[in-house]
Amino acid sequence: MAAAETHANAASAIHHWLPFTPNRDFHAEPKIFARAEGVHYYTPDGRAVLDGASGLFTSPIGHGRREIAEAVYKQLLELDFVSSFQRSHPKAFEAAERVARLTPDGLDKIFFASSGSEAVDTAMKIAMAYHRARGQAGRTIFVSRERAYHGVGFGGVALSGLVNNRRTFGPGLPNTVHMRHTHLKENLFVKGEPEHGADLADDLLRLINLHGAENIAACIVEPIAGSTGILVPPKNYLKRLREICSAHGVLLVFDEVITGFGRTGRAFASQSFGVTPDMMTMAKAITNGVQPMSAVAVDNSIYAAIVEKSPNPKAANEFFHGYTWSAHPAACAAAIATIDIYEKERLFERANQMSAYFLEGMFSLKDIPIVTDIRGYGMAGGLDLAPTQIPGERGHILQKRLYDNGLHIKTTGDTGIVAPPFVMTTDQIDQMFDICRMTLKAL
Ligand SMILES: Cc1ncc(COP(=O)(O)O)c(C=O)c1O
Repeated sequence: MAAAETHANAASAIHHWLPFTPNRDFHAEPKIFARAEGVHYYTPDGRAVLDGASGLFTSPIGHGRREIAEAVYKQLLELDFVSSFQRSHPKAFEAAERVARLTPDGLDKIFFASSGSEAVDTAMKIAMAYHRARGQAGRTIFVSRERAYHGVGFGGVALSGLVNNRRTFGPGLPNTVHMRHTHLKENLFVKGEPEHGADLADDLLRLINLHGAENIAACIVEPIAGSTGILVPPKNYLKRLREICSAHGVLLVFDEVITGFGRTGRAFASQSFGVTPDMMTMAKAITNGVQPMSAVAVDNSIYAAIVEKSPNPKAANEFFHGYTWSAHPAACAAAIATIDIYEKERLFERANQMSAYFLEGMFSLKDIPIVTDIRGYGMAGGLDLAPTQIPGERGHILQKRLYDNGLHIKTTGDTGIVAPPFVMTTDQIDQMFDICRMTLKAL
């Protein structure tokens, strides 16, 4: 691209207020991708940058897959929009069926939305509607966890366990309480599920004892806390949460927005950890990031309580909730084409097979003095950096230097998160960690 054109792009960027970005710094030193193909992004001047974050956990197949783009194009020419209120279309049914085939048995009802945040709000409202339908309208408290990230709707903000995502936005939903997070000193530099910390699940029991089970709607957790830096659940922690929820009539919701669609080596983390929740939220990789789409997979008994057993006349809505873009035809077409590729190319198995190699690369960074912890599971890893005087500064500088050195990863504060596309080769994984090592050493 000509230098003048590149400059024009950067100059016009001032109109764009970027989300979750230090905008003043960005506009002084823009980091732009103009193109993507396979496991690489390309800067406007044509420099390749390895995608170590699958976009934003969105693109495990890599970029530029023609099958998905063509499915979307074809769909838009055939049927570009249908209201999902009182109407639907064949691709919506097909997409729901394809997702339901991947979810654990029983989680067969699929409610579509467009973002992870919307899916989380939807799951919260379904939980409340479920309890109300069963005569337990008092169950309105949600139990979340410190260091949780559940998006940025007011539901997600209330559940959030990250102070910067909460502190500006007032009390939000009053009825949310938090368990402790599971990042323990004993578990530093542990690969996979840590040994210590299953007992932290008993925080849920303490909160039930404090507030009364009859007031608690659901416990919502990320099976692996993703955005905060890949906190892998301690062995048996999720099983214990399941037992407590079942014993007390509390719904268990897994937010699988990051972990869904193969990231843990199975379709969902629920299957990797052998624990079935009552609802699961998902987004991102559902369309390989090509179209905005999210979903909530809901246990049949919840659907039955709200919909099939509704005492209201048949002409009445059973659930007053939905989005203009729910089950958008282009998103459904993208989801179907994406799931086709996952299945044909056995990409969840590939993620499972590549995991050991990937995690070895991740843990090879252990000797770098500023690295204070490394964690990982499946095709996701997190590493913590010792902060400077200003929390988050080192993570931000790392992210900028990596861009300059040819690698894209996500950072949250002083934590780096690596989650490459499943199609990355071992050579590319080596290259990714070589760039990490070189960059970290120079910080
Ligand atoms: C676990 C989890 N839930 C919800 C969200 C919010 O998704 P979105 O940004 O699509 O609203 C995210 C985003 O990263 C997430 O990781």
